[in-house]
Amino acid sequence: MSRADTQEDLNAVIRQHSELLAAQLHSQRESLFPPDASKSMRKFTSGEAAALLGVNDSYLRKLHLDGKGPSPEVSSGNRRHYSAEDIHNLRILLEKTARKPGDYLPGRRAGDHLQIIGVMNFKGGSGKTTSAAHLAQRLALTGYRVLAIDLDPQASLTALHGVQPEFDLLDGGTLYDAIRYEDPVPISNIIRRTYIPNLDLIPGNLELMEFEHETPRALAQGNAGLFFFRVKEALAQVDDQYDVVVIDCPPQLGFLTMSALSAATGVLVTIHPEMLDVMSMSQFLRMTADLMDVIADSGADMSHDWMRYLLTRYEPTDAPQNRIVAFLRTMYGDKVLNAPMLKSTAISDAGLTKQTLYEVERSAFTRTTYDRAVESLNAVNDEIAQLIQKTWGR
Ligand SMILES: Nc1ncnc2c1ncn2[C@@H]1O[C@H](COP(=O)(O)OP(=O)(O)O)[C@@H](O)[C@H]1O
Ligand SMILES: [Mg+2]
Repeated sequence: MSRADTQEDLNAVIRQHSELLAAQLHSQRESLFPPDASKSMRKFTSGEAAALLGVNDSYLRKLHLDGKGPSPEVSSGNRRHYSAEDIHNLRILLEKTARKPGDYLPGRRAGDHLQIIGVMNFKGGSGKTTSAAHLAQRLALTGYRVLAIDLDPQASLTALHGVQPEFDLLDGGTLYDAIRYEDPVPISNIIRRTYIPNLDLIPGNLELMEFEHETPRALAQGNAGLFFFRVKEALAQVDDQYDVVVIDCPPQLGFLTMSALSAATGVLVTIHPEMLDVMSMSQFLRMTADLMDVIADSGADMSHDWMRYLLTRYEPTDAPQNRIVAFLRTMYGDKVLNAPMLKSTAISDAGLTKQTLYEVERSAFTRTTYDRAVESLNAVNDEIAQLIQKTWGR
């Protein structure tokens, strides 16, 4: 057999395998979700709704009994369940009589700038997508207007939100459409509503790789302009519609990540506290700094409101992890978020069914397992919300 023959065979095999896999994934999804069904958000217990709103459950019950605001679904034992939509409507109602403006709708006020948070690290598996998804959902559920962007060609954030990158985006629909050099579309064309009020999504898929290929070409032809501003300029078109943008970055320091970094006002670097991860992070930081120097040399303002490290998949009982955490905290001080994201089977199991922990029912897990994981995620996300509030001067 000649060399060319084997090469052709390899192509054919890979193509065949790709088609087999795509068909399998498709049928798996068909069995999980009927073709036109879309994801929906579960209902929240009155206790959960009260906690999200920051009021007492008894106050919510009184509102219900007085016929004020949305009516919850009442089940046996007089248990009340609220939809995410109900919670949003309650927010609007409560804000009208709030003691301080922003108690229930904590987003931007006049003069506050849009927060753009890039979640990055070039190590795959460092928890970027998990962190980005839970942050975006928690912010939306607590009253911020949020746009989540999947900038990773592997599209895990997209899949997590019920959009199938290999089927639902055959005619484009990723951020690539809005940042490409030829005929970019308005960013509003590619923004999708999700099943969570206040949370919109720009999905991703492999097409995003085109930006990595086209940028060097455009640079060579002198057409790229300030390529690293493509994301920032696209977002400027919808600046007034959101409070926070959360960008899930690809696991490499390419042109997409650089553009996200240039757009970002806040940077979250996820770290899994294990030696190999920390060693690769040192390279990541050096390369990032080098690239930011290059971008700054061309006149861009690379200043950010904040940058934090987030410890992910942390196991408090693991001695080697604890040594690394102590080492990172000593070295980087308050740049490491106080709250770590704990490792939890509740988080990974939810991920297996393409859900976040905020989407699954508490009853799906042992109560302590679920509560511990949710508390850890809430603590992380609420600490980030505080950073956002601080940059708005509150
Ligand atoms: N806190 C956690 N507890 C348990 N599993 C986690 C946790 N965070 C992430 N994972 C799992 O680790 C894997 C990698 O996480 P992911 O967020 O996809 O990383 P990245 O986006 O950096 O590649 C996923 O399978 C995810 O479900
Ligand atoms: Mg990811």
